[in-house]
Amino acid sequence: MTERTLVLIKPDGVARKFVGEILGRVERKGLDIVALKMLTVSEEDATQHYAEHAEKSFFPELLEFITSGPLVAAVLEGPRAIAAFRQIAGGTDPVAKAVPGTIRADLALDGQQNLVHGSDSPESAAREIAIWFPELR
Ligand code: PPS
Repeated sequence: MTERTLVLIKPDGVARKFVGEILGRVERKGLDIVALKMLTVSEEDATQHYAEHAEKSFFPELLEFITSGPLVAAVLEGPRAIAAFRQIAGGTDPVAKAVPGTIRADLALDGQQNLVHGSDSPESAAREIAIWFPELR
């Protein structure tokens, strides 16, 4: 079943010059990049994107981090694209959860500065793609 997922290469991934590395892993997995852009996200759009975490204690830090500099947003497409990207990304905590061979385990240490975001369900993907790529509607 072909799906779409919204992926972010977060500001730490851009600052550490891992855009090529991460997109290379996406392409080697076999996922199609169907939309791609670099931008610095507004506080308003970031708040919408992370709305489900608004009540979490780390929300202010998360907003500050995600708006701190340029990031790369992409829409990936392929069979089971949502799970496929989350598989290559690895768990949220790069040390405690991510398995070696994944983006986060191989390249990150920190639960906040963990390089990438990927949608977690078809509903989230549709909602997030509409925020980051309204032109695709
Ligand atoms: S939860 O509570 O299980 O739903 O949260 P989790 O899935 O672990 O994390 C949700 C997103 O918040 C980021 N995160 C943090 N940011 C800043 N500071 C702290 N302490 C922190 N903990 C978690 C985490 O990287 C997740 O971001 P995304 O972009 O969704 O992967």
